[in-house]
Amino acid sequence: MADEQPNRFAVSEQFRFIGRTFTEYRWLFDLALSDLAGQSILDCAAGPASFTATATQIGADVTAVDPTYGQPVETLEEICQDAVEKTLAQLQEKTDLFVWERYGDVETRGRHLRSAYERFLADYSQHSGRYIPAALPDLPFDSDRFDLALSANFLFLYDDRLDLDFHLDSLRELARVAGEVRIFPLASLDAERSEYVDPVVDQLESEGYGTEFQRVPYEFQPGVTEMLVVSDSQ
Ligand SMILES: C[S@@+](CC[C@H](N)C(=O)[O-])C[C@H]1O[C@@H](n2cnc3c(N)ncnc32)[C@H](O)[C@@H]1O
Repeated sequence: MADEQPNRFAVSEQFRFIGRTFTEYRWLFDLALSDLAGQSILDCAAGPASFTATATQIGADVTAVDPTYGQPVETLEEICQDAVEKTLAQLQEKTDLFVWERYGDVETRGRHLRSAYERFLADYSQHSGRYIPAALPDLPFDSDRFDLALSANFLFLYDDRLDLDFHLDSLRELARVAGEVRIFPLASLDAERSEYVDPVVDQLESEGYGTEFQRVPYEFQPGVTEMLVVSDSQ
């Protein structure tokens, strides 16, 4: 039997491999189409989001990073299907904990999740070079490689699993490789503002980074409508 080459990043059950669509990314990060064309953009942790596939089509140069990449498309498809099923089952039990203005109901939310991963899988199978298996807080890119880095539904969301140093190291790393970093949401899974937001911002400012909170046109966890923008002002 041929030696198997396991992905050096374990597929983690701790962080669910679900992804949003391009349209949802535009809401999460308040992105205008004119923010994208001609820009070099990093999506990290990208998961099976379809942002990379669609933004590339409209003229952005996008690279996606996630530790789960690097596996066959069939394996990723199984992971995506399982993750969406689990997510929808949980949502069905907790509908009153979310704001449904954007989606209407759980079924429609499911359509967004499936359409994101189907688009992702099609792009991943044809353009695997856009999808880099790597993990924060260490990115395999030169400094200032990107104009913009987007990080959705990873930092601050899992603050019960990732500590303050991980958040700081990850944000410094994102700011090293990109001129501007946008992070959403700033709340953990219980919809409370992450306890790390203020210490992270204070520390980054003391190191000379620029930080700004900006309201975005998206609310799914109640009251969670702000993104953090970090710029490397050094
Ligand atoms: C909930 S998904 C978010 C996907 C996408 N950004 C979105 O908002 O639709 C979280 C992702 O974080 C990835 N992840 C886990 N550990 C990571 C790390 N150390 N660095 C980067 N991504 C990581 C997981 O594989 C998973 O795909």
